Amino acid sequence: NKIGVIFDLDGVIVDTAKYHFLAWKDLAGQLGFEFCEAQNELLKGVSRVRSLEILLGIGKVELTEAQKQEYLISKNEHYLEYIHKMGPEEILPGAIELLDKLDELGIKYVLGSASKNAPLILKQVNLLSRFSGIVDGNSVSTAKPDPEVFLIGAQKLNLKPEQCVVFEDAIAGVEAANRAAMLSIGIGDKITLKEADFNFNNLTEIPENFFSEMVLGKI
Ligand code: G6P
Ligand code: MG
Repeated sequence: NKIGVIFDLDGVIVDTAKYHFLAWKDLAGQLGFEFCEAQNELLKGVSRVRSLEILLGIGKVELTEAQKQEYLISKNEHYLEYIHKMGPEEILPGAIELLDKLDELGIKYVLGSASKNAPLILKQVNLLSRFSGIVDGNSVSTAKPDPEVFLIGAQKLNLKPEQCVVFEDAIAGVEAANRAAMLSIGIGDKITLKEADFNFNNLTEIPENFFSEMVLGKI
């Protein structure tokens, strides 16, 4: 059974969600309302533009198009200040071991992220050259939960969607993987990601033989 893997980036390979949160929270503060971590869950996996819309909805704030553009730029500049300080020590536990395992089994993997900053983040943590391909927020026209990002990922892997396994930490991402007819693996809270085919709290929990069994068709 030939399979390939598509990894989400934020929240799966690295924990950039905390930086997105700090930048959005700061923006909410500027606009005069509070923004908490539970609400940040809604922003995971969704595009930058959509994130702003959700945030403005929470704060019941209305802005002109020009103001929105301005805030999108300032939010990203703030976020990038954190990203530029990142290094390989911020790779989440189990990620390198998993990539090593896939290499060992000859299973190819690509990135499928909504982030326009994905190549920069991978470069910061020295992982840019490990992926067979990168699909990011610059290469798609419709964001997760639309399956486009993962369908392009399957093309890069030269595989059919049914042959692809997706690692996701976001509700929107699990939905996108399911809509693409791929096997979805939810990383994080089992209840939040209840739509996933498999759930693990983090990448260290993936059983040693998970992928070798999948290749054998046992999963
Ligand atoms: C990821 C994150 C989202 C973020 C999106 C866009 O999917 O989970 O929270 O909004 O990427 O990121 P960007 O780096 O382009 O602002
Ligand atoms: Mg994510």
